[in-house]
Amino acid sequence: MSTLDDFPRYPLLFGPSPLHPLARLSANLGGPQIWAKREDCNSGLAFGGNKTRKLEYLVPDALAQGADTLVSIGGIQSNHTRQVAAVAAKLGMKARLVQESWVDWPDSVNDRVGNILLSRIMGAHVELVESGFGIGFKESWENALEDVRSHGGIPYAIPAGASDHRLGGLGFASWAREVQQQEQELGVFFDTIIVCSVTGSTHAGMIAGFAGQDRPRRVLGIDASAKLTETRAQVAKIARNTAGRRGPLPRGASRTDIEQALTGWTVIDEEHADTSGMPGPLKKAAPLWYRLRRS
Ligand SMILES: Cc1ncc(COP(=O)(O)O)c(C=O)c1O
Repeated sequence: MSTLDDFPRYPLLFGPSPLHPLARLSANLGGPQIWAKREDCNSGLAFGGNKTRKLEYLVPDALAQGADTLVSIGGIQSNHTRQVAAVAAKLGMKARLVQESWVDWPDSVNDRVGNILLSRIMGAHVELVESGFGIGFKESWENALEDVRSHGGIPYAIPAGASDHRLGGLGFASWAREVQQQEQELGVFFDTIIVCSVTGSTHAGMIAGFAGQDRPRRVLGIDASAKLTETRAQVAKIARNTAGRRGPLPRGASRTDIEQALTGWTVIDEEHADTSGMPGPLKKAAPLWYRLRRS
């Protein structure tokens, strides 16, 4: 069985992402000690984010295939497509992005500000498509790939969130190892990991990565896609593919180890309260809660 180190990794991050205790939040909640691992500031490439870590394992494959264009898909305000645009710019490649209307958010400048604006500034070819959220492969994405080919380019296909890809889970399997190393340095152990889950490979990579470690822990996903059944199926599929077939596990780990690790996860549905890309009740409540605590 191969290990994580058998897969080439193209460095896009600053190094291990910072990990720090949220002392006042922990005190406020009067319960568990809560820490944050800061994927929001993991890279110097257009602000980074969780997808940049995944792309470290896709880039060597794209380069090996001689690709000249990264082709991907996401919602209009997708941070994934913005990170693909940044990585393409860093590599001197082109980016072709299909941006769909995943959420019903009637902001008249939604397609001109934020992530999509940054992608355009970084030189990506951005195409707006009327279509709702779905983690399956989309016709618009296939069309974009074909369009690149028909113009003599060599596309590299990156699905939504870089998730449903044979290398998609490796970035966060490696994150799990990074957490273990940081725990040893800090003298702590995190028995529960909580993560937002949309296209699945962040959560799934964590599950696969932790599967090879000695101490079990729970990995809880909060569904932000409003498609709980699909999210659960997608996370399980990617976790099994990552841990099982390509195995970022220590040599000798068995299938039983993997299945045991897969029992310690779930995806929670907060009544779709925080659908990605929309200011749901939880997001709206957070600033209010903060103000109340300060007053
Ligand atoms: C900040 C953030 N965290 C987590 C996720 C979930 O990642 P994944 O799509 O791999 O499930 C997303 C997805 O868009 C995200 O934007």
